[in-house]
Amino acid sequence: MDVLDLFLVATSTIGFICVCKALIKFLKWVWVMFLRPPKDLKEYGSWAMITGSTDGIGKAMTLELASKGLNLILVGRNPLKLEATSKEIRDHGHNVEVKFVVLDMQKVGGVEMVKRIEEAIEGLDIGLVVNGAGLAYPYARFFHEVDLELMDAIVRVNVEGATWITKAVIPTMIKKKKGAIVNIGSGSTIVLPSYPLVALYAASKAYLAMFSRCISLEYKHQGIDIQCQVPLFVSTKMTRMKTSLFVPSPETYSKACTRCIGYEKLVVPYFLHSVQGFLIKAIPETFLDSYMLRYFLYWRGRGLSKDAKIKASTASNSEAN
Ligand SMILES: NC(=O)c1ccc[n+]([C@@H]2O[C@H](COP(=O)([O-])OP(=O)(O)OC[C@H]3O[C@@H](n4cnc5c(N)ncnc54)[C@H](OP(=O)(O)O)[C@@H]3O)[C@@H](O)[C@H]2O)c1
Repeated sequence: MDVLDLFLVATSTIGFICVCKALIKFLKWVWVMFLRPPKDLKEYGSWAMITGSTDGIGKAMTLELASKGLNLILVGRNPLKLEATSKEIRDHGHNVEVKFVVLDMQKVGGVEMVKRIEEAIEGLDIGLVVNGAGLAYPYARFFHEVDLELMDAIVRVNVEGATWITKAVIPTMIKKKKGAIVNIGSGSTIVLPSYPLVALYAASKAYLAMFSRCISLEYKHQGIDIQCQVPLFVSTKMTRMKTSLFVPSPETYSKACTRCIGYEKLVVPYFLHSVQGFLIKAIPETFLDSYMLRYFLYWRGRGLSKDAKIKASTASNSEAN
């Protein structure tokens, strides 16, 4: 065999291995997204607790879990919205027990939060916890423009909330030797290389991804499945986006979320988000960085002019009075 033959054999072998790897990856993706049977969530326990259960993704997940026959502990800051979610569960004809924990994660400290959650789950067969509560900027802004109150709220709700709630439920799950915890992360940190002008939000979600990956290894052998689920855009009050091909409704999205519970440490549950992520990752990072900066500068400009209009009309109203 001469050198040219050797070269041809080597390159075609490498090519064949690459094609096989890509094919296996694609088949695995099809299995995960469409064919893999979801876990029987009742096996973890008869109760599920959801934060952020009063709106958007968390609320849709609440209804989805109710349809699976799980009793629910709804955690939220607004008693009226908690009652409204509970009414929706009844209106859908789901015959499950519902309890509330009124908790404003922005105002309640960690130790107090743990105490209240421990009290709420005492004596209940708690199997699943979804940390869905989250907060973003009303619109994009430079880091120095984030006012202290908003900064405090994002850290408390996005980072501390999920951390303290996990701390409160883990001991019970260890005793039972089973349980599942889902932390809702964000595509801003997993799919994109940067999220300028929304830095604090993206960083808080990066924390959740790493936190989930680490503790999932710590507790896997204790029968506890910990996962960070990664949405890209979903049509909720947080994004104020209409539903479209890549922007599902919370109801569609929550079905995909529920199917994935208990499997990977980190997962993009909705198949079109996963396709979107794949396409985005094919774009060079420098291009994405500069595009994201321009994109958020535009939204910052829109937000500022909207704020200015609101201020002007408030001032003219108070002058008129
Ligand atoms: N929508 C998206 O495109 C998207 C993308 C990536 C990641 N995510 C993440 O997905 C999760 C759900 O987002 P979403 O779009 O469904 O948002 P959403 O519609 O604004 O709902 C957020 C939920 O969090 C609750 N919450 C906010 N501040 C709270 C506080 N201080 N104490 C207790 N609960 C509080 C809200 O309660 P109220 O009902 O009282 O406001 C609401 O139930 C968040 O973690 C978000 O970061 C969303």
